[in-house]
Amino acid sequence: MGMSYNFSMSYEGKAKIMKDGPSEGTMIMYFKDDVTAGNGKKKAVIEGKGKINKAITLKLLKLVEENAIPTHLIEDIDDRSILVKKLKIFPLEVVVRNKATGSIVRRLGLEKGLEFERPLFEIFYKNDDLHDPLICQEHAFMLELIYPDDLLIVRNRALRANEILKEYFTSIGFDLIDIKFEFGVDEEENIYLADEISPDTMRLWAKGTTESFDKDVFREDKADLLSTYLEVAKRMGLKIEGF
Ligand code: ATP
Ligand code: TYD
Repeated sequence: MGMSYNFSMSYEGKAKIMKDGPSEGTMIMYFKDDVTAGNGKKKAVIEGKGKINKAITLKLLKLVEENAIPTHLIEDIDDRSILVKKLKIFPLEVVVRNKATGSIVRRLGLEKGLEFERPLFEIFYKNDDLHDPLICQEHAFMLELIYPDDLLIVRNRALRANEILKEYFTSIGFDLIDIKFEFGVDEEENIYLADEISPDTMRLWAKGTTESFDKDVFREDKADLLSTYLEVAKRMGLKIEGF
């Protein structure tokens, strides 16, 4: 196969800004206050959100790293930024689900809250024009998005990271319902867990309930996003300056 993965460039996304870092092979990940839903259709700027998601991401990347999952985290920079390894990101949104909600409920008609016997692993093609469609593994290989051997590694690590995070959130009073991961490779083709891990990219319900502590409060206008995310940070033992 003639495919090769491409390195990301400096880039302003919907929630973050990625800039080249101080040394070769590094990038600065800056967390913005912007929040979007429905592929950018619903938008807001919520002052302080970037700081909260940065603090949550930093702690969770450290937690998975301590549990033997290599991540892109190099070090903390300031209240809105972390230094990460510059990677070629697989154009896949890797989702792991513990309970049914969101798109799987709409697609398969499952009951919201149904608990899966084993966590479900899904891949979505990161392509805004196509609205990030759910794809099969065979599609990913045909489109040359990832090598089969790399997808096996990504699958194992995503399932393991879900286990670690699920156990951690249980210990602080939340059920981890589902979560999105991104992975990428460095120059030597080593695979790392990348991007953020925050209430923007996972669903948390108060233990034993369906009460959301994640971006669904914004998607569905259910509660105030800032106080919801602050509650998650507080239960994680994080202090956010200014709050
Ligand atoms: P996307 O659909 O690409 O995720 P977005 O606008 O939602 O777009 P943001 O989260 O705002 O994206 O921007 C972060 C971007 O940085 C993403 O495209 C993500 O894949 C990429 N990224 C995350 N970690 C790394 C890394 N270590 N090296 C290079 N790029 C990265
Ligand atoms: P999913 O139920 O597929 O999407 P929707 O938000 O349309 O109901 O999402 C599963 C989980 O993965 C959820 O926690 C949100 C997260 N996710 C992202 O953060 N970005 C994505 O592009 C996708 C597909 C999911």
